[in-house]
Amino acid sequence: MSTDLGTTPTTRTPRLVLAILVVALVATPVLAFPYVMLDRSASRIDVQTDLAWILLVIHVPSAATAMILGALQFVPRIRARRPVHRAIGRTFLGIGTLAFMVTGIPLALSTPDGNITRFGVLVPATLWPVVALIAWRAIRRGDVVRHREWMIRLYAITFFAITTRMLVPLMLLAQVPVMSSWYDGDPQAAVSASIPYGQWLGWIVNLALAEWIIRRTRKTS
Ligand code: HEM
Repeated sequence: MSTDLGTTPTTRTPRLVLAILVVALVATPVLAFPYVMLDRSASRIDVQTDLAWILLVIHVPSAATAMILGALQFVPRIRARRPVHRAIGRTFLGIGTLAFMVTGIPLALSTPDGNITRFGVLVPATLWPVVALIAWRAIRRGDVVRHREWMIRLYAITFFAITTRMLVPLMLLAQVPVMSSWYDGDPQAAVSASIPYGQWLGWIVNLALAEWIIRRTRKTS
């Protein structure tokens, strides 16, 4: 699978970017439905306060929009049209700030799910504005290479929630042989125990993949 994330001057959209776009477009309606419909009872998590619900109603649709806009930036044909790239980039940064800093950080701090989950989401939520600022400052001083590299890292952080949701089922499959001894055969207990570690793995795996792509691109360009 081509993994240059559109960093070489080609008009072909890399297959990894297409795969990300397909996953993002399929996941968005599934994940965002309860929050767009304002149906609190349909939320998959235990929403404990009205404030947490309001934050989620803002967080989920804006995170989903940022995830799709960010992926579009790796499509070479879109990036080649500078005003379009700039407009999408500014919107991505604005919506992303709302999704990951303004709502993501308080949601992480107030999660009822314990410290492993809390820090597993607080780290990417805090990294997001820092990495966004580094990427933005790089392009302001005309350093296109650094801008591109930091944007790849930023997108890896942005996409972490989806990677988490793909990793947790794999973690559950890996635990099938020990399901009865570890969880008394209770699959729900296995899900609850695996999600917090999935949160950590989501952004760690994505950032490792981003670093691999960046280094590989440096070598070939
Ligand atoms: C840096 C990226 C992200 C951070 C830091 C983040 C943070 C959070 C936090 C802290 C919660 C509350 C969890 C809890 O209370 O246990 C949450 C929930 C949620 N987030 Fe995000 N998120 C990110 C990206 C995304 C993306 C890209 C989506 C895609 C749509 C998304 C969709 C959701 C959904 C749907 C929920 C509610 C749980 C559920 O219904 O499954 N998040 N997020």
